Amino acid sequence: MSSSWWRNAVIYQVYVRSFADSNGDGTGDINGIRSKLPYLAELGVTGLWVNPWYASPLRDGGYDVADYRDIEPSYGTLDDAKAMIAEAHDLGLRVLVDLVPNHTSSDHAWFQEAINAPVGDPSRSRYLIRDGRGPDGNEPPTNWKSIFGGSAWDQLDDGQWYLHLFDTTQPDLDWTNTEVQEEFKDIFRFWLEIGADGFRVDVAHGLAKDMDFPDEEISGELLQNAKTPNHPYWDRDDVHQYIRQWRAVLEEYDDRMMVAEAWVAPDRQPLYIRPDEYHQSFAFDFLESNWDKEELRGNIEAAIDSAGSVDNVPTWTLSNHDVVRHATRYGLPLGTNWRTWLLDGPHDILDADLGNRRARAAIMFMLALPGCVYLYQGEELGLPEVYDLPLEILDDPVWVMSGNTAKGRDGCRVPIPWSTSGPSFGFGEREGWLPQPDFFGALSAEAQAGVGGSMLEHYRSALALRSTHIPDSGDIDWADGPTSDTLTFSRPGGLTCWINFGSDDVELPEDAEILLASEPSFNRVLGTDGAVWFR
Ligand code: NOJ
Repeated sequence: MSSSWWRNAVIYQVYVRSFADSNGDGTGDINGIRSKLPYLAELGVTGLWVNPWYASPLRDGGYDVADYRDIEPSYGTLDDAKAMIAEAHDLGLRVLVDLVPNHTSSDHAWFQEAINAPVGDPSRSRYLIRDGRGPDGNEPPTNWKSIFGGSAWDQLDDGQWYLHLFDTTQPDLDWTNTEVQEEFKDIFRFWLEIGADGFRVDVAHGLAKDMDFPDEEISGELLQNAKTPNHPYWDRDDVHQYIRQWRAVLEEYDDRMMVAEAWVAPDRQPLYIRPDEYHQSFAFDFLESNWDKEELRGNIEAAIDSAGSVDNVPTWTLSNHDVVRHATRYGLPLGTNWRTWLLDGPHDILDADLGNRRARAAIMFMLALPGCVYLYQGEELGLPEVYDLPLEILDDPVWVMSGNTAKGRDGCRVPIPWSTSGPSFGFGEREGWLPQPDFFGALSAEAQAGVGGSMLEHYRSALALRSTHIPDSGDIDWADGPTSDTLTFSRPGGLTCWINFGSDDVELPEDAEILLASEPSFNRVLGTDGAVWFR
């Protein structure tokens, strides 16, 4: 196997809790994933990224890790995980695990030790625990905000405060502490020994914090925006020393990689994928692009140039477990702020057919671009966001931490429908941990498999063609399209991709040999929002 397999891999993201439930407890699990590995191999992906599966109180979907070397009991056992990795390898699939170094769960033994120790005890120095301000120390040490809402500080019973950039149950680690650094090198090794091919690293632009940063220098929108230059806790230059430590560990093994979740400005992206740092970093500006030709092209070119500046290729994704599913985003009016999710759902403004049509085109241009692609479970079924989940069952801490002003991310985490009927459409033997809408049965894998023109068959065809027709190279040729509304590019090997953003139909050249079209009834004329591959 080539040592840079990741450069053009197609990685399928598995949100364990919502993928497949093997034991009928309503929660997805590792044996559920094992049962679906043949499906993933048949789909045509080359690997999977498994969201955190470690022992966890699941206050933030497992991004609150209580033990990095054990599996969450409701997901299975370490032996199940080892078996899953081995079976994936037998099918030629790579496996990435999700590492969470910025914070632990408050249930982690280190945090329990810290809060039960007296003020000043060395166990407290693994976290960012500080005295408060004000006459009796009852004001938080800084003005920093949690990403989920409210202050980033919570007070302990003895009066000191601990930092949590996310949920109150996710205390931030102090990365200047060498014990923290050594522990994570060891955690990396633990999973590498078990056979993980790589890591998706959570909050990769966090970790390094300037604890003396004056409040006066940043507040409001600037503080909320991770792309603000010279930010007290995002994208600080100090973070790179830790990344290099991990890369050195990976280099002790053959063929392993790591991908950064770093929501940073485009000009900062290349810093994360220098040769001695991450192998990849998601091009989130592409994910966040509106359905707009110039905006998309601009963000695609910026990502290619930015990765190219460090001799690398970009890493694309359209959806993940933190964002509104793209089949829904693309059906919303241009510029809708889907990030502050609409509490009552987009009932009147959503055009679901439009979103679906654009999603069929989007996968084609993403798969045709140079670099690696990540898919999010269920997008191959065309699943939309479930925006109507009842408020009383919402599980995402965002709902509470935002003071009920943002619904949170549960709508993209609804259990996957595998079959047309059953208590949870084949997800398990009973209802899943989040309810599925009735229309999920018609979108199930069973309903779509073998059905010409279905989203699932569209993905299968596109992935098969990508593996044979799209080369492992960073080159792309942009060309003038047949109309100014057509985005047009070619790849070495001769594949050309057109996407029609205009309202007029576009005719294909007479000699074009069509490989795939996004419109099921395509007949050499590309309609609005359609995409085609030809040579
Ligand atoms: C990013 C993860 O993708 C998200 O789901 C999580 O809530 C935060 N990091 C905190 O770990």
